[in-house]
Amino acid sequence: MYNITYYHKLIINKEITIAQNERKSIHGQWSSKVLFIFAATGSAVGLGNIWKFPWMAAENGGGAFVIVYLASVALIALPIMIAEILIGRRGKQNPVNSLRYLSKEASQVKVYEVDHDLNRTKQTKYQHHNQEDYTNWELIGWMGVISGIIILSFYSVIAGWTISYIFKSFSGLFNQVTIDGATSLFKKFTSDAERQLAWHTIFMFMTCYIVSKGVRGGLEKAIKFLIPGLFMILLILTGYVTTLSGFTEGLRYLFLPDLNKITASVVWSAMGMAFFSLSIGMGALMIYGSYLSNKFSIFEVTSIVAFADTFVAILAGIIIFPIVFTYHLDPTTAGPGLIFQTLPIAFGSMPGGETFGTLFFILLFFAAITSAISLIEPAVTLLIENFRHTRAEASLKIGFVTWLVGIGTIFSFNYWQDVTILGMNFFNLLDALTSKVLLPLGGFSMAIFVGYLVKRRTSVAELKMSQSMYTIWRVLIRYIAPVAVMVIFTNGFM
Ligand code: TRP
Repeated sequence: MYNITYYHKLIINKEITIAQNERKSIHGQWSSKVLFIFAATGSAVGLGNIWKFPWMAAENGGGAFVIVYLASVALIALPIMIAEILIGRRGKQNPVNSLRYLSKEASQVKVYEVDHDLNRTKQTKYQHHNQEDYTNWELIGWMGVISGIIILSFYSVIAGWTISYIFKSFSGLFNQVTIDGATSLFKKFTSDAERQLAWHTIFMFMTCYIVSKGVRGGLEKAIKFLIPGLFMILLILTGYVTTLSGFTEGLRYLFLPDLNKITASVVWSAMGMAFFSLSIGMGALMIYGSYLSNKFSIFEVTSIVAFADTFVAILAGIIIFPIVFTYHLDPTTAGPGLIFQTLPIAFGSMPGGETFGTLFFILLFFAAITSAISLIEPAVTLLIENFRHTRAEASLKIGFVTWLVGIGTIFSFNYWQDVTILGMNFFNLLDALTSKVLLPLGGFSMAIFVGYLVKRRTSVAELKMSQSMYTIWRVLIRYIAPVAVMVIFTNGFM
């Protein structure tokens, strides 16, 4: 008995090894583990951490939001992130094809034959259970492609604001600016649709240009100075806000949760923010995982990325809220303009602020573009692999559609300001649709797919975790994460 099991194990391991050695993404691989970590961090760290996190925290009661956010990262987002990278790395293609590959692999059954010479059964091959080419699971990939386009459409507009703020800072507009000055500067800018359209166009153009050249080359170079640079400026800003009179009040607001404020809607927003900030639920990390060599531990790289991402978001909060309280801004009403109305004040009154401000917005722009790339890469690779496009054609087409949708977001800050659907303007609608519905739905489906459909031996072989860590992950991915997403979703909805 022992022999047979052992023998089977050998075969299974051998098949897995052969299968893995032979398969690589046609788009190439990251040249090292560090570069994957950089790329995934580049995807995760972006406007979400610095622009969206403080705004969401402000709107949802500060500490109450932050504590639920941290719990969502640990218990929901992190295990799903591991699952998403796992699908990509094993599938080695665009999300649609990777999901198809894995569901075929999962439906294979072992065929045994009796080996009469040795008088034992031996496994000769795997055979498909169902022969159909199409599986419903690949719909997760399609949904992700659509979510990516929607997210990028507004992401690019906000990234355009960032570019404009580089020049505003450089030309000294923030010098000694008051709270009213900063607010009216921002209002004036967002009411100017043409100007925003120009920056949005430039940002989309740059994103598509980089993607059309292939993701790895440019990205690898950009991220090497981006991450350290961003950390440095954030630390400098942190140093500055400790001198503000509202420092402790800001910290208290951020870290002392008022538990009564934890409502279903706060929890829903916080969970959506965790998905958005870690770039999970739409296939961005799946596609990056497909460029990851099999040698590296998914768990290890995931933890590093999640930690870096959370760290930057919290740091952004530590910087913004002291400014908010020092200058008596109302955190609940500032909305998506929060950082654009607070940070100029800090830069305007600190020594060297012109330089730091300019540098900060340059870095934020880079952080945005490395995230933007990951938002359209799944759609682009889908057109390349399944619809015979060249990289350039694919980037151009997807870029154009995204650009077009983005115009709606621009208008929602001026011409369409008062046009609302379900009480939300166009921008808020797209934001809620993606963060609160599509990403959680994508993540939920990935959790079910990897937790229940993918064979245990496959996830064991891919993750290479210790026994106990694997067990914890498996419990999270099968029970905790999907149940939590569903409960939060239904509660929030009602
Ligand atoms: N995480 C990025 C940010 O925080 C945005 C982003 C990039 C994203 N890729 C994604 C969000 C995929 C959701 C899904 O700015």
